Amino acid sequence: MTDLRFLVLGSAAGGGLPQWNCNCSNCAAARDPSFEIIPQTQSSLAVSLDGETWALFNASPDIRQQIQQTPQLHPKTLRHSPIRSVIITNADVDHIGGLLTIREKQAFDLFSTAAIGTVLDANPVFRVLNPAFVQRHSIRLDEVFSPLAGMEARIFAVPGKVALFLEEGEPELGLEGEQTIGVEFLANSKRAYYIPGCATLPDWLCERIRGADLVFFDGTVFTDDEMIRVGTGTKTGQRMGHMPIIGDDHSGSLDVLSQLDIGRMVYVHINNTNPIWRDGPERDAVTAAGFEVGHDGMEIDLA
Ligand code: MLT
Ligand code: MN
Ligand code: ZN
Repeated sequence: MTDLRFLVLGSAAGGGLPQWNCNCSNCAAARDPSFEIIPQTQSSLAVSLDGETWALFNASPDIRQQIQQTPQLHPKTLRHSPIRSVIITNADVDHIGGLLTIREKQAFDLFSTAAIGTVLDANPVFRVLNPAFVQRHSIRLDEVFSPLAGMEARIFAVPGKVALFLEEGEPELGLEGEQTIGVEFLANSKRAYYIPGCATLPDWLCERIRGADLVFFDGTVFTDDEMIRVGTGTKTGQRMGHMPIIGDDHSGSLDVLSQLDIGRMVYVHINNTNPIWRDGPERDAVTAAGFEVGHDGMEIDLA
């Protein structure tokens, strides 16, 4: 079997749903079993060709729970893991925190750009990933690499910024470099993308993903001022390096991506304040456009 299989391990953005210190209406509802909102873990995607070995795109702080709730990722023998590799798309805590959990003398390959690798190297706590077991690989932008035997993928820069904990003063927004990357998957004449963080959709990026069979895309905020309006923060989506789903003059990701003949569109990395977590006009707008709201445990097989 060589079909690309995707498993959304965590569909929420940093903080998860509910976030530990948040009592916004979504977080409160996610704590109350009588509401329709089901708790969601932080941003990570598992990908496989054979259903036996898996590559994890991002290591979320919730990785222990994600493995626990995903039978495909359970050990098959006394000491074993179907997880063969981990690929990091940016150095934010929601994407690297889980590396500290998967430290127990288990061999896997860790892929990142050199810039993201430097962030890991600068934090000595990541030395718990013993090089005798965890092989580090620097991957170059636009070069094909193999996250799993037989799987071809390519990373590319998308507009973003440095990780939140590396910000000094006002960070450069819309930076295109090794800090924030998207991933392209190619198998069996299918083409898919994973882009969990993206500040804008410039023409070159639209052309790149046009006609894809599947795109997982940054659904952090519905509107740019969402966190300000909900009262949970002072930053816009743009300031956090995330483009909104709906923007002025059809500039949001929903309108832009709708023009690109993409087979299946799934929002991931959804912030807990985002109204698409619940029934209502915002979720209706997304589903009416043919987009899907990602959720933990969502499986997509590109047969
Ligand atoms: C983000 O995607 O904006 C980050 O995950 C923020 C954070 O690290 O909390
Ligand atoms: Mn994030
Ligand atoms: Zn909240």
